[in-house]
Amino acid sequence: QTARPMVEVADMDWEQLTATVADCTACPLRQTCTQTVFGVGDKAADWLYIGEGPGAREDALGEPFVGQAGKLLDNMLAAIQLKRGENVYITNIVKCRPPNNRNPSEDEARQCAPYLARQIALIKPRLIVALGKVAAQNLLNSTDTIANLRGKVHDYHGIPLIVTYHPAYLLRALPEKAKAWKDLCMARAFMESQS
Ligand code: URA
Repeated sequence: QTARPMVEVADMDWEQLTATVADCTACPLRQTCTQTVFGVGDKAADWLYIGEGPGAREDALGEPFVGQAGKLLDNMLAAIQLKRGENVYITNIVKCRPPNNRNPSEDEARQCAPYLARQIALIKPRLIVALGKVAAQNLLNSTDTIANLRGKVHDYHGIPLIVTYHPAYLLRALPEKAKAWKDLCMARAFMESQS
């Protein structure tokens, strides 16, 4: 069940949504983070990448995936001829940094979900790439593992969705990189098959 945000976001345009997220105090995360991190990139992108939540560097700079994991994400994009900001939008399940980079709780993710849903509706991506377990499980309303969820094209309310490993996990589990690269190639091939 989707939580009702403090204000109705379903009809908001991009600017209204950005301002509403910046002012949000719907869950306790806003009390400990520095700022909200809305997302970055092309607001009409075909490719939408969704991570978990801002880390320390993202919290300081106000942009998603700007730390070590972000560097790897940029390499993952480059591997399939994509570039941050060019036909790509990047955001997270939660817009505020969870303390000590813990996973967002179910309730925090639920409170933030209407914002992401509205972002997706406004961007209208042709493909969503869910980065890691938190993004995949929240978007697909699933408790399944990444190992089981990757390798196929899922459906997110009519938008194709592909799951791959989170770049922060890949930094710790280098052998899994080959599988992530396979996922990216599948995503690229899927997009080409659709155009
Ligand atoms: N990890 C995420 O999931 N998102 C970020 O923005 C940075 C690190």
